[in-house]
Formats: sequence, structure tokens, C-alpha cells
Amino acid sequence: NECCRKALHDNMLMSRDKMSTHTVLVLYGSQTGTAQDTAERIGRQAQRRRMRVRVEALDSYNVANLISESLVVFVCATTGQGDPPDNMKKFWRFLFRKSLPADSLCRLDCAVLGLGDSSYPKFNFVAKKLHKRLLQLGANMLLPVGLADDQHDLGPDGVIDPWLISFWQKTLSLYPPPAGLAPLREEEKLPPRYVFHFLDEVPDKQTEHLQTPENKAPPTPLQPFPARVVFNQRVTHPSHFQDVRHIEFDITGSNIQYGAGDVVMMRPCNAAEDVEQFCQLLKLDPECYFTLTPTDSSTVAVPARLPQPCSVRFLVEQFLDISAVPRRSFFELLATFATNELEREKLLEFSSAQGQDALHSYCNRPRRTALEVGDHLTVDVLTDFPHTTAEISIDYLLDLFPEIQPRSFSIASSLLQHPNRIQILLAVVEYKSMLLKPRKGLCSSWLASLDPSKGDVYVPLWVKKGSLSFPQDPDTPVIMVGPGTGVAPFRSAIQERAAQGKMANVLFFGCRSESKDFYCQSEWEEKVQAGQMILVTAFSRDQEEKIYVQHRVKEQSKLLWELIAKKNAFFYIAGNAKQMPTSVCDALKEVFQKGGGMSENQAQEMLDAMEKAKRFQSETWS
Ligand code: 2AM
Repeated sequence: NECCRKALHDNMLMSRDKMSTHTVLVLYGSQTGTAQDTAERIGRQAQRRRMRVRVEALDSYNVANLISESLVVFVCATTGQGDPPDNMKKFWRFLFRKSLPADSLCRLDCAVLGLGDSSYPKFNFVAKKLHKRLLQLGANMLLPVGLADDQHDLGPDGVIDPWLISFWQKTLSLYPPPAGLAPLREEEKLPPRYVFHFLDEVPDKQTEHLQTPENKAPPTPLQPFPARVVFNQRVTHPSHFQDVRHIEFDITGSNIQYGAGDVVMMRPCNAAEDVEQFCQLLKLDPECYFTLTPTDSSTVAVPARLPQPCSVRFLVEQFLDISAVPRRSFFELLATFATNELEREKLLEFSSAQGQDALHSYCNRPRRTALEVGDHLTVDVLTDFPHTTAEISIDYLLDLFPEIQPRSFSIASSLLQHPNRIQILLAVVEYKSMLLKPRKGLCSSWLASLDPSKGDVYVPLWVKKGSLSFPQDPDTPVIMVGPGTGVAPFRSAIQERAAQGKMANVLFFGCRSESKDFYCQSEWEEKVQAGQMILVTAFSRDQEEKIYVQHRVKEQSKLLWELIAKKNAFFYIAGNAKQMPTSVCDALKEVFQKGGGMSENQAQEMLDAMEKAKRFQSETWS
């Protein structure tokens, strides 16, 4: 069997080398995995068009080589407030170096496809800026920048599909396939990216890439620190609709240093019962070990996070995202395994541009209520297509299922008040169905399930700089607006600043009800007593009419104007309500108009100037 595989593998490589001439490089910057998925889809389209292809994260690519490439597609998401994703930050800094000569990329043909959300102010900022910069460096842009939009009726594909059609028209006219070779049809299977070699014996020790005690460097995504969960407490009243957790991790010995505004990163694991079900469906033995080799080692490397040899359990539990809402590309590939006509038709419909509405309702139907949190969709899909599932070849596992992406949480504590600890405030996500959006439920339900009273539990984590930064000067006041779990980075800031003797802290906190979800209440009361902060609360549902943080901001005009105009205060917003940041900004502009006798325009200019000077910062998520 192993012999056959090897022959097949060699055959695939040889025939591919003979057939394909041009090489396309697809580089992506991806935060939640959508840009990566799109990049991989472009990679498969290139292979079908008989091209050689490499698909890489921008930061794993050696940018200095860009001058010797001929054809590159960039697929870049925009995150946060117009920021590039983490896995392209290094590239971003390099590309904007002033020392790069204006014609450095004059031999390069390229195109930029952006992924963004037009409900945010800096829509597709990264892709637009990248396109401009590449032009400046002399690159030949094959077509206008593609601006995919989550808000589009058909989701991002509404823009991506037509953009790709133009892209291939243009590209194939410049890089035609070898004479006499037609493109491969959608139904024809491409070779898998990896070949699995199962071991007959269990190896002595499986080396997971965890940070070890001798290791002096702080943990990284590839070497996270196994932090013990110290406590995991619900901080909302049991009768309240939302379960919010206060979770503490012990980071003793990790060499992690963090400050207010920083975030902790972790990757969730799949639940044990899902791992079992998945293995059963695919007839996998979780206790088996394997090694991986790339089908084409010149273009693909083995994922650095997988130990070699690796157990099937590790792969399924910690690497493959089997409980996400599956993406269109999953159905595309699954369809190529279908031998049952009914299943094949349905899968082809789901992978077609016209079938996206049907796919949307199919994927979202099973999760309409919060009670269905435990449902795991990819597994459901496999159960719905039993004949096709039985045909899946193991070698395609890493093509079918995306990698579990790390999630980030604002750190809610300070090392100055809680040495060797990281705390977070976690809203356990009841599932909000939104196809093609990352599902946060996996991580929050996994974290919520960790119970330190039943024995030690460890979460591999690492820390990264956040987007919020706080003033050094002890006399500069900070005004923070953080309803709900948006308060997390401000709790960190207040603890840190109070410990440093910085007392000028004003917090606006909003929640539904004083008795149900006013978490950290006693901590704030103590700090108010100690003169370390001013607290202003907005309980939205404790009276007939809604009272929100923005109403309180307006009521406090006099105080706020004093602090901002006379004491140079910094102003922060954090939270997840979509309309909240805009409403708070409007309230703040009213404060300026009232306090400084300004026109609307002048107030806007003042806000812009504060933002430029980093005196106005926001961190919002949805
Ligand atoms: P609500 O649920 O009663 O509408 C934390 O989630 C708090 O933010 C809740 O009190 C919630 O109120 C409130 N909230 C919801 N939408 C908001 C908005 N647009 N602006 C400000 N606060 C909002």
C-alpha cells in the first residue's frame, strides 16, 4: 500500500512538472482564516489552469525575493481600525521602508484582493494602501484592487467571484497554459497537499511544541506556554441571559510581560465527543501516529505546528477546525469525492456561485437558537453526506478542513496587581449564525467548560501587543468608555495605573442591570473609595427608557471638557456593540461643541486631531 502511494505521489509530481510552466505566488494576510481560504482557492484555480503555485502567509515569505518573482496575487484582510492582520505585519513594515527604490518591482505582474467589512470606517484600508504602494514601486497591476465586502448580499464572494474571472482572463492572456493542455474541470480532483504515512508503532514520545521551563524567551504562536487555569467564575447573575466568565491563568515561569491594552492569544481545542464522532465517521483511529510529506515540497511545507510524528488525536483535537461553519471551498472539494448522484448534485450546488443562498440557509438552519450551542456543523455535514464521507481519502484532510485559528482576548488584569497572572472577561457566545464569519463559539464554549476544581487544566497561550496604549505622564487623565466586556482592557489599565499612583481615571461602564450583569462592582467601589477612579454607570434596562454610556457622556460634559481641554486627557472606547462607538463619538463631539462653543465641523476636527495624536483610541469588535 505504501509502495502504491509513493508511486502515485511520484507520478503526480512528475506529471505536474511536465505540464505546468508558469508559477503564480499567492501571498495572504489573514486574521480569521478567510483570506487564507481565499488564497488557497486561488491556488487551486491556478493548478486547474496548469500553473505551478505557492500559497504562503506574507510573513512566512522572504520579501527580499519579491523582486525575482513574475506573478503574485496578494489577498489581504483589514482588521481592527484599518490594521493589517498579524501574519503580515513584518511584511507591512518592510514594504513601507522609505529606502525602497521606486522601480524595485518593475518586473512584477501582480494583483491585490482585499477582504473587508464596509460597516467599519476604514473599509479595506490595507488592500487599497497595498495596491497604491505596489504601483509606487513600479509593479504592473493586472487589474484594479478587488474590495470584497462582508456586507455584500452574497457575502465576500459577491465581489471575489467576478474579480477572479477578470483576474484569470488577464493572467491567462499573459501566461497561457502549455499548448494542447485544457484546464482541469472543477469535478476533477487535484492532488492533495500532503501524503500521510501511518506508523506501525506508537513512537516513544510525541513532542508537542509547548514552551518548556528551560526556555527563556516568551511564548510564541509556535511555542505557546501551558498556563494553568486558576479559576473560572460566572460573574453574571444565574438568571441573566448571558454567561460572562472571569477566568484566571497562572503564567509563572513563562517570561510573559504584558501591559495595559495587551491581548492574550489562545487556540481552542475541539470537544472530546466531536473528536470521537469525527474519527468514527472517517474511520480514523485516534491513537494512530503518522508523518506527513508535502506532495510538492518545493511549494508546500509541513505545518510547523504539527509535531512529527503526530497522533491522529492531536491532529483532530488541536489542529483541524471541524466545528466551524464550513466554507464554500469545503463543499467544492467534498463534491469531488461524491459518487452518489444525489449527494454530488447537492454538493455541486453548494459550491457554485448560484448556490450560495441555498448554502447559507443549509448551514445556518441547525443553529437558530442559543440552546443549540453544542451543535457542530462540519460534523453534521459529514453525517448528512454519508456516502461521500465514506469516500474521503485521508490524504485530503488538511485540504478539507482549515486550521483552528487563534482567538484573542483583551487582558483584564495587571501584573502589578496580580503578579504571574492573566485574567480575562469572557462573554460565552451563544451562536449567532452568520455564514463565512469566524465562529467564536468554539473558543468561548471550550474555555467556559474548563473546570479547575476537577483537577489541573492547562491552556496553551501567548501574549501580543494590543492596539490600545496609555499615557506615561502620571498627571494625564484617561477617560474610558467600556460597556459590557469592553471594560476588560480598562480594568487592566485602571489596575496598572492605580498601582503606579496614576489616579486620574474615569470609567463609563454600561450593562443591562445593576443586579444582573454589573461585574467587577465591588472592585470599582473599592477603587472609587480609595480615590483611584471616577465611575459612571449606565444600566440600560433598569428603567423604562434605555440609558446608554453615550447618554452619560453627554451628562458629564462639564467634567469631560475640563479634563480634555485643560488637562490633555486621553479618551478610549472599547466594546462590541456595533452602533455604540459611533454614538459615543457623537456624544463626545457634543461635549466639544458645548464646552468649547464649537461648530459641528470644528468638533469633528478636534476629534480627528485627538485621534492623530493617539489621544483618542478605540478597540471594537463584533
Ligand atoms: P441593551 O442590551 O439594553 O440594548 C452592554 O452590552 C450594554 O451595552 C448593554 O446595557 C446594552 O444595552 C448596551 N448597548 C446596546 N446597544 C448599545 C448602543 N448602540 N450604544 C450603547 N450601548 C449599547
